[in-house]
Amino acid sequence: MRGRITGTGSYVPAKTLTNADLENMVATSDQWITERTGIRSRAVVGPGEACSDLAVKAARRALEAANISATDLDMILLATCTGDYPLPATACLIQHQLGATKAAACDLGAACCGFVYALSMADAYVKTGMRHVLVVGSEVMSAITDWTDRNTCVLFGDGAGAAVVSASEGASGVLSTHLRSDGALWELIAVPGGGSRLPPSEKVVTEKLNCIKMKGNETFKVAVRTLEEIARETLAANQVTIADLDLYVPHQANVRILRAVADRLELPLEKVMLNLDRYGNTSAASIPIALDEAVRQGRIKQGSLVMLGAFGAGLTWASALIRW
Ligand code: ACO
Repeated sequence: MRGRITGTGSYVPAKTLTNADLENMVATSDQWITERTGIRSRAVVGPGEACSDLAVKAARRALEAANISATDLDMILLATCTGDYPLPATACLIQHQLGATKAAACDLGAACCGFVYALSMADAYVKTGMRHVLVVGSEVMSAITDWTDRNTCVLFGDGAGAAVVSASEGASGVLSTHLRSDGALWELIAVPGGGSRLPPSEKVVTEKLNCIKMKGNETFKVAVRTLEEIARETLAANQVTIADLDLYVPHQANVRILRAVADRLELPLEKVMLNLDRYGNTSAASIPIALDEAVRQGRIKQGSLVMLGAFGAGLTWASALIRW
């Protein structure tokens, strides 16, 4: 018994913010952003639109693709760092909106690795008796972005992706997952205020400590190293080679990171799913959005060998190998 992805779905808000729009907000240029990151545009929520709103839309599409109804779900796992409220878990709001009356629901915080961590847990749940687990990555990064900080505000976007993981006895499904963390490096990417260490206050808001701070250059180097290492570990553990892969679906943070990883792995860029030019870094949503687009574009078909690779705040890094 293993977890098989039987349906995917995604949703990004209608409103877009282009590099030209950002040129009017901070001292940046379309050329700098495109050359240094590969990002040209990103989606941002409209007024009143929150994490669960995006998640529910992506989830409905995934349920439709899996051809099951919400009442078939045993569990909903939401990967996010931008939930609707500090309490309750946003997964419960999704559960209610979907009418998933038999499902347990909880949130999972592993930043950009959240979807792969949650997929690993869904796989473990179906191995111990659950039939259908909904895994969602949904983020409203615009809510924790400092729109005056050019180092970070050009990078992120909002969106949601979802996958139904169903118990399956065939050869298809999650072949392995590898999850890692190194909290010694937590300060490379953090939202320093608004939690129990530094509760919400006027100072937190005035100094924008409730927004994401990142040491981008250092993160870049760790990202390239860890993505390469975990990809090699994944291939070796499954006794497959890079040539056996049909598609690599990585976390979409920076095209230069992904080119460097592909280069080190000797993986042709045609086998790397890239959509960050349109969405930027959507944190936990980036891999499920890319996965859904790859499925709908026919780049992933039954029998395809697909590897996921993620890294992010924590620091965390993770991979999954899937036989579709
Ligand atoms: N426009 C113009 N100039 C800028 C901008 C901007 N938007 N942002 C930074 N610069 C400037 C800097 O101020 C610096 O100028 P200086 O030399 O005068 O000081 C110069 O550009 C170079 O800055 P670097 O930080 O060295 O640029 P780098 O090439 O490293 O690119 C970037 C920065 C894009 C952030 C890159 O480091 C990166 O992508 N890092 C990884 C980010 C990431 O993947 N994070 C993990 C996921 S996030 C999560 O988990 C939620």
